[in-house]
Amino acid sequence: MTAFGVRDPGRAGEQISLYTGNANPALARKIARYLGVPLGRCEVFEFANENIFVKILDNVRERDVFLIQPTCSPVQKSIMELLIMIDAFKRASAGRITAVVPYYAYGRSDKKDQPRVPITARLIADMISVAGADRVLTVDLHQGQIQGFFNIPVDELTAVTMLSNYFIRKQLEDTVVVTDLGYAKRARTFAELIDAPLAIIEKRRVGNSDRAELLNVIGDVRGRRAIVVDDEIVTAGTLMEMVRALEREGVSEIYACATHGVLPDPAIDRIRESALAEVVITDTIPLPPAKNLERIKVLSIAPLIGEAISRIHYGESVGALFASEMQLVSEMLLWDEEEQQQEHDDDPFRERTERGVAAPAPSGA
Ligand code: R5P
Repeated sequence: MTAFGVRDPGRAGEQISLYTGNANPALARKIARYLGVPLGRCEVFEFANENIFVKILDNVRERDVFLIQPTCSPVQKSIMELLIMIDAFKRASAGRITAVVPYYAYGRSDKKDQPRVPITARLIADMISVAGADRVLTVDLHQGQIQGFFNIPVDELTAVTMLSNYFIRKQLEDTVVVTDLGYAKRARTFAELIDAPLAIIEKRRVGNSDRAELLNVIGDVRGRRAIVVDDEIVTAGTLMEMVRALEREGVSEIYACATHGVLPDPAIDRIRESALAEVVITDTIPLPPAKNLERIKVLSIAPLIGEAISRIHYGESVGALFASEMQLVSEMLLWDEEEQQQEHDDDPFRERTERGVAAPAPSGA
């Protein structure tokens, strides 16, 4: 039973073909479970010469294929797997191919803001289209305008409602939502949803480095609990600068949340050593157990993506999904690891689903 009623695996199972590369098979399994559809079978591995090999092990002629592959670490390999798998589906005569890219890498490279630099977000969009994708489903792009880099339909979902609902449930008092200018629009929505004021921190990147420098806090934060919101946490450098600025301004407690937890190793050390009360992210990118600090909370985006896939497949409105999202969000918050494990054990599709996960490279790469 879901917030949208009982799903009919027979109907969907006959028609939706769900596949995953090696980037985030755990998320793909959860989406498969939400839809009541087994993951399709394929081999995806790397030869000793680092060439990637793909073989689809099912007949996909005229099928509605959804390929789940965030372009997360190892980024270049995830991108190549995505492209090569799309090519394999195209040559296997799939009826329609939707690239489900919950995290879109190179999002920051979205404009020519200095001489002789590429627009890599556009290049990736071109490559996905040329490979043969008919549509794209993604979550919280770094900038919404990246949608326009594609000449095929793009559905962009957002985790803002889900993240804000998590904080509504915590019933924190005297909160203020804090963000930088680049995320101000979505942060405004977040602040309205949790009924809190918004403060903005002025930020400037130092050259082409990962380092950000914070200038001013605009808004009243003194004595309040701050919730820092952003689209992604990468090195956590921006976040730590924000924490320092907010501490200087006299906030009482600091939480952080973001849709995408990229979190390379230094970010985990920074979060561990910080005064942050909690960091909330989604599972668009997998978080290895070694990085799963007690104070990092991961919410599953799987039901939202699963619902969008179902709506795309049946020709229903994805926009309408946002109107009913509050209901869906309640369901998502139930998807903590313990319940997922329980459901996983009882899952009639489990064996087929696990068999369908892309095979790891024989070299263990
Ligand atoms: C930048 O514009 C984004 O919204 C994030 O603030 C940024 O990508 C975070 O990167 P980092 O964690 O490396 O500072």
